[in-house]
Amino acid sequence: MFTEAQLYSPVTRSGDGDVLVHLSDEHPGVHDPDYRARRNAIAALALDYAPGKPLPHIDYTDAEQEVWRIVSAELARKHQKYAATEVLAAAARLDLPSDHIPQLDEVSAALTPLTGFRYVPAAGLVPLREFFGSFADRTFHSTQYIRHHSAPLYTPEPDAIHEIIGHANQIASPRFAAIYEAVGAAVARLTTEKALKFLADVFWFSMEFGVVREKDEIRCYGAGLLSSYGEIEEFQRAELRPLDVATMGTAVYDITHYQPILYCAQSISEIEDVIGGFFATMDDDSPHRVLHASSRM
Ligand SMILES: [Fe+2]
Repeated sequence: MFTEAQLYSPVTRSGDGDVLVHLSDEHPGVHDPDYRARRNAIAALALDYAPGKPLPHIDYTDAEQEVWRIVSAELARKHQKYAATEVLAAAARLDLPSDHIPQLDEVSAALTPLTGFRYVPAAGLVPLREFFGSFADRTFHSTQYIRHHSAPLYTPEPDAIHEIIGHANQIASPRFAAIYEAVGAAVARLTTEKALKFLADVFWFSMEFGVVREKDEIRCYGAGLLSSYGEIEEFQRAELRPLDVATMGTAVYDITHYQPILYCAQSISEIEDVIGGFFATMDDDSPHRVLHASSRM
């Protein structure tokens, strides 16, 4: 079961202040001491950040910049073929750099005039309540590390490429940004972990892995698909189901494989109505209500 949160490598800080990122045994960078030291240093900068302080600037290496250039170019080509028109239009306005990794304040400088969103650093996992709750004031917590250079088109965890190429291109759309804000407002009304988990799961199947029909094509708008070199093509083979909050909020799924079932909207308006509408009124009892309603149909 969920969530994207489980994908992040745990970050700990020892009593003497050393920050350690715990990569899994399967991580492409796990046996690279330079990469591991790099990850620890980048995580430490994020942990040291506090609101009001300058955003950490990462002095990215040539290898990291090269990974960004490769992935940016490949994803830009794939977006033309597979991304939803709404995302393509937003991405064109945002105009992310393809020749270097943007610092978070560079992302915010482009994004804030479009939708009011700004990026702040995350060392790794941000607790769900804080991560989703911060959408209410149009703030997005973003990691700043880059996947290992040995596998530029693969990452087992959300890296800056996912956070920026996936999410920033999406929330550069005022329509999607409004849904994010509704998510944040909903979090403020939730008191139970169960409801928060339900919210996260609906978000997963919409803003992370959502697809939309455009004429006779299926296009993606979810950040997880937009930032995945492999899955952005593979989703064409997924089983598509209509938007349904009750099933999206309770589906059992494996985050480590391509999603075999995706939820397909008929239009961006339907995403706004069904998903945005749900978040706009969601409270602790909403999961029970939608499940009860769907079981009576
Ligand atoms: Fe994400």
